[in-house]
Amino acid sequence: MPEVLRNNIIYNRPVINGSRTVAVIDDCFMGNPPQWPDCPRIFIHASEKDKTLATVEKVIGRLLELEADRDTFLVGIGGGITTDITGFVASTFKRGLRFGLVPTTLLAQVDAAIGGKNGVNFSGFKNMMGTFNEADWVYVSSSFLKTLDHRQLMCGAAEMLKTFLIADERAYHEAVELFAAQEIDFEAIQPLVHRAAEIKFSIVEKDPQDRGIRHLLNFGHTYAHAIEKNDTGMLHGEAVAVGMVMESRIAVKNGILGEDVLFEIESDFKRIGLPTDTSLKEEELEAALLQDKKRSGNVIRMALPAKIGEAVIWEKSVTV
Ligand SMILES: NC(=O)c1ccc[n+]([C@@H]2O[C@H](COP(=O)([O-])OP(=O)(O)OC[C@H]3O[C@@H](n4cnc5c(N)ncnc54)[C@H](O)[C@@H]3O)[C@@H](O)[C@H]2O)c1
Repeated sequence: MPEVLRNNIIYNRPVINGSRTVAVIDDCFMGNPPQWPDCPRIFIHASEKDKTLATVEKVIGRLLELEADRDTFLVGIGGGITTDITGFVASTFKRGLRFGLVPTTLLAQVDAAIGGKNGVNFSGFKNMMGTFNEADWVYVSSSFLKTLDHRQLMCGAAEMLKTFLIADERAYHEAVELFAAQEIDFEAIQPLVHRAAEIKFSIVEKDPQDRGIRHLLNFGHTYAHAIEKNDTGMLHGEAVAVGMVMESRIAVKNGILGEDVLFEIESDFKRIGLPTDTSLKEEELEAALLQDKKRSGNVIRMALPAKIGEAVIWEKSVTV
């Protein structure tokens, strides 16, 4: 395993300057705060309800009290909510501080902390404000994952499988076996996290502003957003798992994917305990999809699998 992946993922704890660093930490670690980094800490609560400008204001207020300046280095430690908020604060406070991220959920390690997007929700809409700004480094360690509850771990598994379904057949099968096991082997997760991050990186560097090929990473997400809009109580990764199955069905209907592969994906997901269906009615999903479509003209754009390890961007014109 290389120590540094491309330019910013690291697997050894970085040395930081404690007098110039402030850490923004998920308050789930408050009872047992990490010994590192030894610097002032700002705890935030990680919920979508709190992923707002109000929390950004709170963090910035504390930074001012701590007399942070443009040379202050920010470290965000937590899941995707914490890494998104840290990236947003770092991008905007005094027009920009340098920052590093320590993702502590599987989802954040394979997805949220990679690729330079950050942001906060606004008025109930997810990630309405944000910037593209790459962290100086992302320190990834599977040791954090041992305290994650199983449901959260499986949400990360869903995003990891998404990445492999669009780009790496072998890694996909390895990941399915790993997550289907009775006991999760945390050592074996690390190389798969590495591979997923590497794939995300290689796509992002071709399309950093998300205007073309980066859309492949949205496989499963068009339906996932429709499911989440209808508030089914599913976590994001669970909705993405259902979305991947539904979008694979569309791929089959349009002659892009073989039906046998759809069955294989569906049965893999069932085997590892990911949901593959929603109780929502077709009309409710269609209505949510149409809302999505309104934002991008008369075209619904989806990443669809062509086989395990390969996907295409598919567009469909719709009339309102
Ligand atoms: N920026 C991006 O490119 C990008 C990509 C995907 C997702 N996201 C964002 O990421 C967020 C979801 O990330 P998430 O699933 O990591 O959610 P999260 O940050 O809410 O973390 C999930 C839960 O796990 C807890 N937690 C975190 N680390 C833990 C640990 N090591 N042990 C035990 N509990 C721990 C948190 O307190 C929280 O309750 C969403 O807001 C989403 O919009 C961003």
